[in-house]
Amino acid sequence: MTLPKVFVSRVIPDEGLNPIREACRATVWEDELPPPRDALLRSIEGCDGILTLLTDRVDDEFLERAGSQLKVVSNFAVGFDNVDVPACTTRGIPVGNTPGVLTETTADLAWTLLMAVARRVAEGDRYVRAGRWKTWGPMLLMGPDVHGSTLGIVGFGRIGQAMAKRAQGFGMRVLYHDLSRADPAIEQELGATYLPLEELLPRCDFVSLHVNLSPQTQGLLNAERLRWMRPSAILVNTSRGPVVDSMALVDALRGGVIAGAGLDVTDPEPLPADHPLLTLDNCLVVPHIASASRATRGKMASMAAANLLAGVRGEHLPTPVNPEVYDRAT
Ligand code: GLV
Repeated sequence: MTLPKVFVSRVIPDEGLNPIREACRATVWEDELPPPRDALLRSIEGCDGILTLLTDRVDDEFLERAGSQLKVVSNFAVGFDNVDVPACTTRGIPVGNTPGVLTETTADLAWTLLMAVARRVAEGDRYVRAGRWKTWGPMLLMGPDVHGSTLGIVGFGRIGQAMAKRAQGFGMRVLYHDLSRADPAIEQELGATYLPLEELLPRCDFVSLHVNLSPQTQGLLNAERLRWMRPSAILVNTSRGPVVDSMALVDALRGGVIAGAGLDVTDPEPLPADHPLLTLDNCLVVPHIASASRATRGKMASMAAANLLAGVRGEHLPTPVNPEVYDRAT
């Protein structure tokens, strides 16, 4: 029996790579950097399954080059804005993602950014390393309290709700916004109050973004909406970079429209070292690592492998993003 041919577009943890290598003829892109487009398109030709990362664009051209035998695209991420899902569905190709397993780990990092920007942790570290720490300073590096403040959560799905849980431990007031209201039982359990965005933003000390990237959320935090925030407010983004207008954010941080920002995701991504955001002391940037705990990346790998292997075997994916593809096939 010939084993299915698959391409894995980067080295992922063994929890995923081992079962794939055992069950398939697998080619793995071993470089630290993603395959350039040409190499990606060459590598996927004739594959039965492809494991992609959020740095790989899956579109018509990609699907054409892979060929009509392609049975599955398994994305190693919960987000799938890099995948043209309707194009996959039209061709009858299920797309998998990795929901659930990274919820708490991502909320941990969002919380880390919130705390770190509020309490000026990165600035303090730079201050010490620069040899500027001469004495205990009564006025040194003061910031706002986190406990007892108001947190606004934009996007109240799994990760947004995990933020609300953390806020409870800090005695915070929690406001949220989403396309629709959460179940009243969830609102009550998490002590969260729904508000339209224009009412939420002016009331918050911290605003944390947890929406998917879509045409509706692209540029959601633009110059106008940043102005709705308090001058003392801190923005945290662990969703997708383009949800915030980067140049509007630079202006807002420079001009005191808001007080600070903690970013795990940026637009563009990666952020060039000479980007204006990186000249600002009140902006903390980390390189899209919200799900990067060892345990969580292992679980994501195992889940992405399970989707890939189910797909090449013609079985239903455990976590498809386009389950309608199965209605279409029957
Ligand atoms: C990471 O950003 C993911 O979507 O899993």
